[in-house]
Amino acid sequence: MLTMTNVKKRFGEQEVVKGITLHVGKGEAFGLLGPNGAGKSTTISMICGLVPYDEGDIQVDGLSVSRSPYEIKKKIGVVPQDIALYPTLSALDNLVFWGKMYGLKGREAKARALEVLETVGLVERGKDRIETFSGGMKRRINIGAALLHRPELLIMDEPTVGIDPQSRHHILETVKRLNEQGMTIIYTSHYMEEVEFLCKRIAIMDHGQVIATGSTQELCKRLAGGNQLLLDVEEVRPAFVEKLKQLDGVEKVMIPEASEIHLYIKQDQDMMASIVSMAAKEAVKLRQIKLKEADLETLFLQMTGRSLRD
Ligand SMILES: Nc1ncnc2c1ncn2[C@@H]1O[C@H](COP(=O)(O)OP(=O)(O)O)[C@@H](O)[C@H]1O
Ligand SMILES: [Mg+2]
Repeated sequence: MLTMTNVKKRFGEQEVVKGITLHVGKGEAFGLLGPNGAGKSTTISMICGLVPYDEGDIQVDGLSVSRSPYEIKKKIGVVPQDIALYPTLSALDNLVFWGKMYGLKGREAKARALEVLETVGLVERGKDRIETFSGGMKRRINIGAALLHRPELLIMDEPTVGIDPQSRHHILETVKRLNEQGMTIIYTSHYMEEVEFLCKRIAIMDHGQVIATGSTQELCKRLAGGNQLLLDVEEVRPAFVEKLKQLDGVEKVMIPEASEIHLYIKQDQDMMASIVSMAAKEAVKLRQIKLKEADLETLFLQMTGRSLRD
């Protein structure tokens, strides 16, 4: 559905996309994860033909974005980061308006608008003016607007930023359902959990580059000592810490607080039992032991030294 080959973009002196290569198959839900300023929105704008690229090639369903911009616009539905709705019009009238922008005729536009209201779960609010809607409901109507022309590829730019948890949940469920019905999805976010929930495959972006691609599982396997064991002890004894460091499978030991020991361990390593018996032998009072599994946040931290949300 999408092939990007060595795509570059500069704004003035600043190169904000530095040679991205990506492939998204038909029917996939693909996540673009990265902190603010990584270049996600610029990448999306180039895919949609809203921003021209300087180098490389982008193809959507086998068509070059720079050579066939109009055919491509018919295939893509895009939900931009900013809400684009008329506050004094009703939700339904906003959708009919957008339907007409996409070339739907009067009755068809109305029928599609009603269907789309159903999809985003706001049928009973259809006649209400947008200005009476919460941020999350506006966002849902905006998603509806992107669906009117039945796109094959839906691209969403951080659709859950700054909205209530209920709408967030609703949006995630809607997107999941659309994907299950066969729509290809590209979802950008700096929230790891959303991308993990929706997407089988992910690209992690930072400073205009894709720094890792793969499934969540594949990506987490790259972590050196990705899983962590969090030990809560009454007192951190140096002798005990030394013993922990020598345990097979322990990559790193950290002591963030007076009563905590964090062990970075290799994946698939079951070592709780040996730690418990070692603590007993050393007369260390172990109050709690918890496993924190490797996630994309840890991976990003390890690759860049920064957190996704900074
Ligand atoms: N129209 C523009 N003109 C100049 N710089 C821009 C423009 N759009 C984005 N940028 C810069 O490009 C970089 C990437 O921005 P963006 O694609 O919005 O990242 P993200 O969506 O991941 O937060 C940022 O440094 C941003 O300031
Ligand atoms: Mg953005």
